[in-house]
Amino acid sequence: MKRIGMLTSGGDCQALNAAMRGVVKGLSHGVDELEVYGFNNGYKGLIYGDYRLLTSSDFSGILTKGGTILGSSRQPFKLMRVPDENGLDKVEAMKQTYYKLNLDCLVILGGNGTQKTANLLREEGLNIIHLPKTIDNDIYGTDVTFGFQSAINVASQAIDCIHTTAASHNRVFIVEVMGHKVGWLTLYSGVASGADIILLPEIPYDINRVVEAIDNRTKAGKGFTILAVAEGAISKEDAALTKKEYKDKKKKSKYPSVSYEIADQITQRTGTEVRVTVPGHTQRGGSPCPYDRVLCTRLGAAAAQAILEEDYGYMIAMINGETKRVPLGEVSGKLKVVDPDCKMIREAKTIGISFGD
Ligand code: F6P
Repeated sequence: MKRIGMLTSGGDCQALNAAMRGVVKGLSHGVDELEVYGFNNGYKGLIYGDYRLLTSSDFSGILTKGGTILGSSRQPFKLMRVPDENGLDKVEAMKQTYYKLNLDCLVILGGNGTQKTANLLREEGLNIIHLPKTIDNDIYGTDVTFGFQSAINVASQAIDCIHTTAASHNRVFIVEVMGHKVGWLTLYSGVASGADIILLPEIPYDINRVVEAIDNRTKAGKGFTILAVAEGAISKEDAALTKKEYKDKKKKSKYPSVSYEIADQITQRTGTEVRVTVPGHTQRGGSPCPYDRVLCTRLGAAAAQAILEEDYGYMIAMINGETKRVPLGEVSGKLKVVDPDCKMIREAKTIGISFGD
């Protein structure tokens, strides 16, 4: 008999259901009796005892279904130790729910913030297994997170569509790709779709270099230029500011996002029309791609195996094509960023892609 709790927390992505299915299928083949408590809307469900008892049929037919059957919400880690508006101690409340249900383990699917709370609960004595979810691919200790490949497909398709219209006009196009802190999604979708300029949070740009790259294309007879710009792309001047100065500057900015600021600067310097496309949350939507379905099935099965062995306190990672149990305490709070000097960036530069640096 196993009694597990499960929750999905933070921004959703395409393959959450596929991962939960993998865990439940793995467990139901390993034990005679299985009880799965699904907590609604992330940690909220665990804090406020909002859950439902699920059966294996709830996990049938969801391999290809986007979103999450449990719902999700953002519960910032930094507020976990802060009592709620009614004075409730959230960490104690989560522990109480866990012990009241007499759970063997809690399976937590989420990104970096979610992982920090998962690790906190582990430190508090709960049995935890974490599965690395995010389209941002920024979780330290795993080669890849689920959602990433599906989101690359969506962002690439957006850039591909811009390509055909761009070829009909003499314009500069910016596609803003998700990722405030890291540029994995922008880098991969930009390269996959032949973007000419890729701007990432990890490589602060110089607007003069960006304009230079556009001018070079114009001189070479190319009628259009496509920029893939991460939400968190930052200029060299802004990167030199303190965090607070940068935040204040952004608050006062007349632009809805960095892409519009860059568009304005390009128009001022070149007189060229610039159009901005923001695919936004479409990047987290729709059905998971086959790569993510396989990844989640494997991570889910490996999570089930750890639970069957009663080996807890891990993130189930994918490293060099193998699933691995990585101790949560070793990875929690760390971010996996794009190394500006990595081979992929150098190769992209070799074929003429500008990073605005
Ligand atoms: O962390 C995933 C992510 O999609 C980021 O890429 C994006 O910046 C953010 O979430 C958007 O968050 P929200 O859904 O809260 O607007």
